[in-house]
Amino acid sequence: MHPSLLPIALYALAASAAPAPAPAPYPLHRRDQNSSANNQALISALELAPTAKDRLALLTPSDFLYDFASPPPGDAITTGLGGRTVKADSKLFPALIGTGVSMTLGFIGPCGFNTPHVHPRSSQINVVVEGQLKTQFIAENGVDAVENTLGKWQMTVFPQGAVHTEWNPTCDPAVFVAGFASEDPGVQQSTQTLFKLDDDVVRAELGVETLNGESIEQFRDQLPENVALFVEECLARCDIEADPAPNQGGPSEGGPWSAPSSALA
Ligand SMILES: *[C@@H]1O[C@H](CO)[C@@H](O)[C@H](O)[C@H]1NC(C)=O
Repeated sequence: MHPSLLPIALYALAASAAPAPAPAPYPLHRRDQNSSANNQALISALELAPTAKDRLALLTPSDFLYDFASPPPGDAITTGLGGRTVKADSKLFPALIGTGVSMTLGFIGPCGFNTPHVHPRSSQINVVVEGQLKTQFIAENGVDAVENTLGKWQMTVFPQGAVHTEWNPTCDPAVFVAGFASEDPGVQQSTQTLFKLDDDVVRAELGVETLNGESIEQFRDQLPENVALFVEECLARCDIEADPAPNQGGPSEGGPWSAPSSALA
Protein backbone atom coordinates (compact mmCIF):
# COMPACT_ATOMS: atom_id res chain seq x y z
CA MET A 1 0.00 0.00 0.00
CA HIS A 2 1.21 3.51 -0.82
CA PRO A 3 2.23 5.15 2.47
CA SER A 4 -0.10 8.10 1.87
CA LEU A 5 -3.09 5.71 1.80
CA LEU A 6 -2.34 4.14 5.17
CA PRO A 7 -4.21 6.70 7.35
CA ILE A 8 -7.28 6.36 5.12
CA ALA A 9 -7.17 2.57 5.30
CA LEU A 10 -6.88 2.72 9.10
CA TYR A 11 -9.75 5.18 9.32
CA ALA A 12 -11.91 2.94 7.15
CA LEU A 13 -11.08 -0.05 9.31
CA ALA A 14 -11.97 1.82 12.49
CA ALA A 15 -15.20 3.17 11.02
CA SER A 16 -16.36 -0.22 9.81
CA ALA A 17 -15.78 -1.88 13.18
CA ALA A 18 -18.35 -1.55 15.96
CA PRO A 19 -17.70 1.48 18.14
CA ALA A 20 -14.75 0.54 20.31
CA PRO A 21 -15.99 0.01 23.88
CA ALA A 22 -13.98 1.58 26.66
CA PRO A 23 -11.74 -1.15 28.00
CA ALA A 24 -13.71 -2.99 30.69
CA PRO A 25 -12.13 -2.64 34.11
CA TYR A 26 -12.90 -6.32 34.67
CA PRO A 27 -14.15 -9.24 32.57
CA LEU A 28 -17.76 -8.53 31.69
CA HIS A 29 -19.11 -12.00 32.44
CA ARG A 30 -20.48 -12.01 35.96
CA ARG A 31 -19.07 -14.39 38.49
CA ASP A 32 -20.64 -15.07 41.86
CA GLN A 33 -18.91 -15.99 45.08
CA ASN A 34 -19.18 -19.69 44.31
CA SER A 35 -17.56 -19.51 40.88
CA SER A 36 -14.62 -17.36 42.03
CA ALA A 37 -14.07 -19.52 45.15
CA ASN A 38 -11.65 -22.40 44.51
CA ASN A 39 -11.22 -21.10 40.91
CA GLN A 40 -7.64 -22.13 40.19
CA ALA A 41 -7.43 -20.21 36.88
CA LEU A 42 -8.48 -16.99 38.62
CA ILE A 43 -6.28 -17.68 41.65
CA SER A 44 -3.24 -18.31 39.41
CA ALA A 45 -3.87 -15.12 37.42
CA LEU A 46 -4.20 -13.11 40.65
CA GLU A 47 -1.02 -14.63 42.08
CA LEU A 48 0.89 -13.78 38.89
CA ALA A 49 -0.46 -10.25 38.40
CA PRO A 50 2.47 -7.82 38.58
CA THR A 51 0.58 -5.04 40.40
CA ALA A 52 -2.51 -4.50 42.56
CA LYS A 53 -4.06 -2.66 39.61
CA ASP A 54 -3.63 -5.74 37.44
CA ARG A 55 -5.29 -7.84 40.13
CA LEU A 56 -8.26 -5.47 40.30
CA ALA A 57 -8.67 -5.76 36.53
CA LEU A 58 -9.22 -9.51 36.98
CA LEU A 59 -12.02 -9.15 39.52
CA THR A 60 -15.69 -8.20 39.34
CA PRO A 61 -17.46 -6.34 42.15
CA SER A 62 -19.24 -9.55 43.12
CA ASP A 63 -15.86 -11.26 43.59
CA PHE A 64 -15.43 -8.91 46.55
CA LEU A 65 -18.53 -10.17 48.36
CA TYR A 66 -18.27 -13.15 50.71
CA ASP A 67 -21.30 -14.47 52.54
CA PHE A 68 -20.46 -16.18 55.83
CA ALA A 69 -24.12 -17.28 56.15
CA SER A 70 -23.91 -19.15 52.84
CA PRO A 71 -20.24 -19.76 52.06
CA PRO A 72 -18.97 -21.48 48.89
CA PRO A 73 -18.45 -25.23 48.63
CA GLY A 74 -15.09 -26.49 49.85
CA ASP A 75 -13.59 -26.41 53.31
CA ALA A 76 -15.15 -23.12 54.50
CA ILE A 77 -17.18 -24.72 57.29
CA THR A 78 -15.87 -26.77 60.21
CA THR A 79 -18.76 -28.31 62.10
CA GLY A 80 -18.85 -30.22 65.36
CA LEU A 81 -21.44 -30.89 68.03
CA GLY A 82 -20.85 -27.55 69.73
CA GLY A 83 -21.14 -25.19 66.76
CA ARG A 84 -19.19 -24.30 63.67
CA THR A 85 -16.59 -21.96 62.29
CA VAL A 86 -16.72 -20.47 58.80
CA LYS A 87 -13.56 -19.16 57.17
CA ALA A 88 -12.69 -16.95 54.24
CA ASP A 89 -9.12 -17.44 53.03
CA SER A 90 -7.35 -16.76 49.74
CA LYS A 91 -8.68 -19.95 48.15
CA LEU A 92 -12.31 -19.52 49.19
CA PHE A 93 -12.27 -15.75 48.64
CA PRO A 94 -9.63 -15.01 45.98
CA ALA A 95 -10.19 -11.23 46.25
CA LEU A 96 -8.05 -11.55 49.40
CA ILE A 97 -4.98 -12.31 47.29
CA GLY A 98 -2.52 -9.46 47.75
CA THR A 99 -4.37 -7.96 50.71
CA GLY A 100 -2.55 -9.84 53.46
CA VAL A 101 -5.68 -10.50 55.53
CA SER A 102 -8.41 -13.09 56.07
CA MET A 103 -11.25 -13.81 58.49
CA THR A 104 -13.14 -16.54 60.32
CA LEU A 105 -16.51 -16.33 62.06
CA GLY A 106 -17.29 -18.73 64.88
CA PHE A 107 -20.83 -19.74 65.84
CA ILE A 108 -20.36 -21.34 69.23
CA GLY A 109 -23.47 -22.92 70.69
CA PRO A 110 -24.30 -23.27 74.39
CA CYS A 111 -21.30 -25.05 76.01
CA GLY A 112 -19.58 -25.03 72.60
CA PHE A 113 -15.82 -25.45 72.63
CA ASN A 114 -13.47 -24.29 69.89
CA THR A 115 -10.80 -26.86 70.72
CA PRO A 116 -7.14 -25.87 71.34
CA HIS A 117 -5.35 -25.01 68.11
CA VAL A 118 -2.58 -23.00 66.52
CA HIS A 119 -2.53 -20.74 63.47
CA PRO A 120 0.95 -21.34 62.09
CA ARG A 121 1.11 -18.19 59.96
CA SER A 122 -0.75 -15.43 61.80
CA SER A 123 -1.77 -13.77 65.02
CA GLN A 124 -5.50 -13.50 65.55
CA ILE A 125 -7.62 -10.63 66.79
CA ASN A 126 -10.83 -11.97 68.16
CA VAL A 127 -14.01 -9.97 68.85
CA VAL A 128 -17.14 -11.39 70.47
CA VAL A 129 -20.18 -9.94 68.69
CA GLU A 130 -22.83 -12.08 70.40
CA GLY A 131 -22.95 -13.77 73.79
CA GLN A 132 -19.93 -14.55 75.92
CA LEU A 133 -16.74 -16.55 75.42
CA LYS A 134 -13.92 -17.58 77.68
CA THR A 135 -10.53 -17.54 75.98
CA GLN A 136 -7.20 -18.97 76.92
CA PHE A 137 -3.81 -19.07 75.22
CA ILE A 138 -0.26 -20.13 75.94
CA ALA A 139 2.26 -18.37 73.72
CA GLU A 140 5.30 -20.63 74.23
CA ASN A 141 7.18 -22.75 76.75
CA GLY A 142 7.92 -21.11 80.08
CA VAL A 143 5.07 -18.59 80.15
CA ASP A 144 1.71 -18.69 81.91
CA ALA A 145 -1.66 -19.24 80.29
CA VAL A 146 -3.60 -16.04 79.64
CA GLU A 147 -7.33 -16.37 80.30
CA ASN A 148 -10.13 -13.89 79.76
CA THR A 149 -13.89 -13.71 79.63
CA LEU A 150 -15.10 -11.67 76.68
CA GLY A 151 -18.55 -10.13 76.51
CA LYS A 152 -20.22 -8.66 73.47
CA TRP A 153 -17.96 -6.19 71.59
CA GLN A 154 -14.90 -7.21 73.61
CA MET A 155 -11.70 -8.36 71.95
CA THR A 156 -8.53 -10.26 72.65
CA VAL A 157 -5.47 -11.19 70.59
CA PHE A 158 -3.79 -14.58 70.23
CA PRO A 159 -0.13 -14.21 69.24
CA GLN A 160 1.04 -16.09 66.15
CA GLY A 161 1.78 -19.72 66.97
CA ALA A 162 0.12 -19.61 70.43
CA VAL A 163 -2.00 -22.61 71.37
CA HIS A 164 -5.39 -21.07 72.05
CA THR A 165 -8.95 -22.07 72.72
CA GLU A 166 -12.30 -20.49 73.43
CA TRP A 167 -15.47 -21.86 74.89
CA ASN A 168 -18.97 -20.69 75.60
CA PRO A 169 -19.78 -21.15 79.32
CA THR A 170 -23.38 -19.99 78.87
CA CYS A 171 -26.60 -21.58 77.65
CA ASP A 172 -26.97 -18.96 74.90
CA PRO A 173 -25.23 -18.92 71.53
CA ALA A 174 -22.06 -16.87 71.04
CA VAL A 175 -20.50 -15.50 67.86
CA PHE A 176 -16.93 -14.31 67.35
CA VAL A 177 -15.19 -12.59 64.47
CA ALA A 178 -11.52 -13.43 64.02
CA GLY A 179 -9.20 -11.37 61.85
CA PHE A 180 -5.86 -12.66 60.57
CA ALA A 181 -2.77 -10.91 59.23
CA SER A 182 -2.40 -13.56 56.55
CA GLU A 183 -4.47 -14.61 53.55
CA ASP A 184 -3.75 -18.20 54.56
CA PRO A 185 -3.25 -18.36 58.34
CA GLY A 186 -3.70 -22.14 58.48
CA VAL A 187 -5.02 -24.02 61.49
CA GLN A 188 -3.81 -27.04 63.41
CA GLN A 189 -5.83 -28.61 66.25
CA SER A 190 -3.29 -29.39 68.93
CA THR A 191 -4.63 -32.62 70.48
CA GLN A 192 -5.88 -34.13 67.22
CA THR A 193 -2.46 -33.42 65.72
CA LEU A 194 -0.57 -35.04 68.58
CA PHE A 195 -2.74 -38.14 68.27
CA LYS A 196 -2.03 -38.39 64.53
CA LEU A 197 1.59 -39.25 65.31
CA ASP A 198 2.55 -42.93 65.43
CA ASP A 199 0.96 -44.91 68.27
CA ASP A 200 4.41 -45.61 69.72
CA VAL A 201 5.27 -41.91 69.67
CA VAL A 202 2.01 -40.98 71.41
CA ARG A 203 2.50 -43.73 74.04
CA ALA A 204 6.06 -42.53 74.70
CA GLU A 205 5.06 -38.86 74.77
CA LEU A 206 2.18 -39.42 77.20
CA GLY A 207 4.03 -42.08 79.19
CA VAL A 208 0.95 -44.32 79.33
CA GLU A 209 -0.28 -47.47 77.62
CA THR A 210 -3.96 -46.59 77.92
CA LEU A 211 -6.14 -43.51 78.36
CA ASN A 212 -9.54 -43.69 80.03
CA GLY A 213 -9.04 -47.46 79.97
CA GLU A 214 -8.72 -47.44 76.19
CA SER A 215 -5.77 -48.08 73.92
CA ILE A 216 -4.25 -45.06 72.19
CA GLU A 217 -5.87 -46.29 68.97
CA GLN A 218 -9.34 -46.42 70.57
CA PHE A 219 -8.85 -43.12 72.38
CA ARG A 220 -7.82 -41.36 69.16
CA ASP A 221 -11.19 -42.25 67.62
CA GLN A 222 -13.00 -40.63 70.54
CA LEU A 223 -11.47 -37.19 70.04
CA PRO A 224 -14.27 -34.82 69.10
CA GLU A 225 -14.50 -32.86 65.88
CA ASN A 226 -14.16 -29.12 66.29
CA VAL A 227 -16.37 -27.29 67.39
CA ALA A 228 -16.87 -29.69 70.32
CA LEU A 229 -19.03 -29.61 73.44
CA PHE A 230 -17.49 -28.49 76.70
CA VAL A 231 -17.52 -29.76 80.29
CA GLU A 232 -20.20 -31.92 81.90
CA GLU A 233 -21.12 -29.15 84.32
CA CYS A 234 -22.11 -26.81 81.48
CA LEU A 235 -23.96 -29.54 79.61
CA ALA A 236 -25.95 -30.43 82.74
CA ARG A 237 -26.69 -26.78 83.55
CA CYS A 238 -27.90 -26.12 80.00
CA ASP A 239 -29.69 -29.47 79.70
CA ILE A 240 -27.70 -30.57 76.64
CA GLU A 241 -27.17 -34.22 75.82
CA ALA A 242 -23.67 -34.94 74.60
CA ASP A 243 -23.16 -37.68 72.04
CA PRO A 244 -20.70 -40.01 73.79
CA ALA A 245 -18.95 -40.94 70.54
CA PRO A 246 -19.15 -38.01 68.16
CA ASN A 247 -16.84 -39.58 65.60
CA GLN A 248 -18.88 -42.74 65.29
CA GLY A 249 -21.57 -41.89 62.84
CA GLY A 250 -20.32 -38.32 62.69
CA PRO A 251 -22.02 -35.15 63.82
CA SER A 252 -25.24 -34.23 62.10
CA GLU A 253 -25.00 -31.27 59.77
CA GLY A 254 -24.79 -28.19 61.95
CA GLY A 255 -24.81 -30.25 65.14
CA PRO A 256 -27.59 -29.71 67.66
CA TRP A 257 -26.95 -26.01 67.31
CA SER A 258 -26.35 -24.07 64.13
CA ALA A 259 -26.25 -20.34 63.70
CA PRO A 260 -29.59 -18.64 63.33
CA SER A 261 -29.30 -16.16 60.48
CA SER A 262 -30.10 -13.41 62.99
CA ALA A 263 -26.80 -14.18 64.70
CA LEU A 264 -25.10 -12.74 61.63
CA ALA A 265 -26.90 -9.42 61.80
C1 LIG B 1 -22.91 -21.38 47.08
O1 LIG B 1 -22.64 -22.68 47.54
C2 LIG B 1 -23.21 -22.96 48.81
C3 LIG B 1 -22.68 -24.31 49.28
O2 LIG B 1 -22.78 -25.28 48.30
C4 LIG B 1 -24.73 -22.90 48.68
O3 LIG B 1 -25.31 -23.13 49.94
C5 LIG B 1 -25.12 -21.51 48.19
O4 LIG B 1 -26.50 -21.44 47.98
C6 LIG B 1 -24.39 -21.18 46.90
N1 LIG B 1 -24.64 -19.79 46.56
C7 LIG B 1 -24.98 -19.43 45.33
C8 LIG B 1 -25.18 -17.96 45.13
O5 LIG B 1 -25.10 -20.22 44.40
